[in-house]
Amino acid sequence: MSLSAPDFMLCDIPIQGDLILAPMDGYSDVPFRTLCRRFGSSMSYTGFVNAIALIQGDELAWRDLDFLPEERPVIFQIFDQSEENLLEAALRIQKLQPDAIDVNMGCSSRRVSSRGAGAGLLRDPDKIGRIIHRLTAALDVPVTAKIRIGWDQTSLNYLEVAHAVEDNGGALIAVHARTRNQGYLGGADWDTIAEIKSAVTIPVIGNGDVQTPQDIERLKTSTGCDGVMIGRGAIGNPWIFQRDPSEAPPIEDRIQIMQGHLDHMISYHGEELGIIRFRKHLKRYLEPLSITKANLRPMLTCVDKQQLSGQLDALKQIYG
Ligand SMILES: Cc1cc2nc3c(=O)[nH]c(=O)nc-3n(C[C@H](O)[C@H](O)[C@H](O)COP(=O)(O)O)c2cc1C
Repeated sequence: MSLSAPDFMLCDIPIQGDLILAPMDGYSDVPFRTLCRRFGSSMSYTGFVNAIALIQGDELAWRDLDFLPEERPVIFQIFDQSEENLLEAALRIQKLQPDAIDVNMGCSSRRVSSRGAGAGLLRDPDKIGRIIHRLTAALDVPVTAKIRIGWDQTSLNYLEVAHAVEDNGGALIAVHARTRNQGYLGGADWDTIAEIKSAVTIPVIGNGDVQTPQDIERLKTSTGCDGVMIGRGAIGNPWIFQRDPSEAPPIEDRIQIMQGHLDHMISYHGEELGIIRFRKHLKRYLEPLSITKANLRPMLTCVDKQQLSGQLDALKQIYG
């Protein structure tokens, strides 16, 4: 089989495709990542995993690093504010042979960022440089960073941060084009992605507010970024990775995709947890159907696989 030219390189790993499912804690597990990969996401990021929990051998944290061979290239993402903890955790998880290890520099939650982890790291670009330097020197796999554009509007230090990553051996930067203080509100400032792309030579992945195939093309052409990362726009909408500008797949196909997603959630997480975790996806899958709350409730509270499957199938009759 001959492969076409890669869209970009992650060190010496050719990346086929320029769309990437964003790391999303609580969403981007094995079933959702493999589904998105099937539709065209070109690699898999795990959600962020607490470096201390990994060092302490926390089983759930280690389970968050599960992946299937067909997901490669796979990037493990970790977070902490301590250089030593990040290094220690990275050395340990490297044994699972990920294709790269990413340091989260974008989490805006108070719990994480106020202790200096996640987006809290953006307040100290020298420390970012040291972290990337130490990890790159010690690891056999590429080290990448996912950043925001600054702590707040008065400290937009994304160029300094991008240089700190690149100059210290970082292999790729993903940029969520908002500040820490914005959280998820206000528009993402795509111009900053274009500035970073012009300033560094390593691949730059643009991220923030991509909801449609048209947004994908706009982000690419307006910034020149190497890849486009899609988060919330992929939930309940994994076919966005097909970048088909026409409408979503017909209802029969969508139900089939939902059924497949549900089946994989159950086989991976077990029936009870699988169904519970599927609910937030289901809610998003069903949004375009404008189902009344009263009709949604039985599906969102159902605890039985067969019953839920039947309820989904019945939608074909109503909306088909
Ligand atoms: C529920 C949720 C969980 C997230 N978890 C992570 C995470 O674990 N690591 C990370 O780097 N970003 C995380 N993010 C941020 C996304 O990766 C992405 O940067 C952000 O949602 C903006 O992209 P979007 O507009 O396409 O959603 C999360 C976002 C959401 C909505």
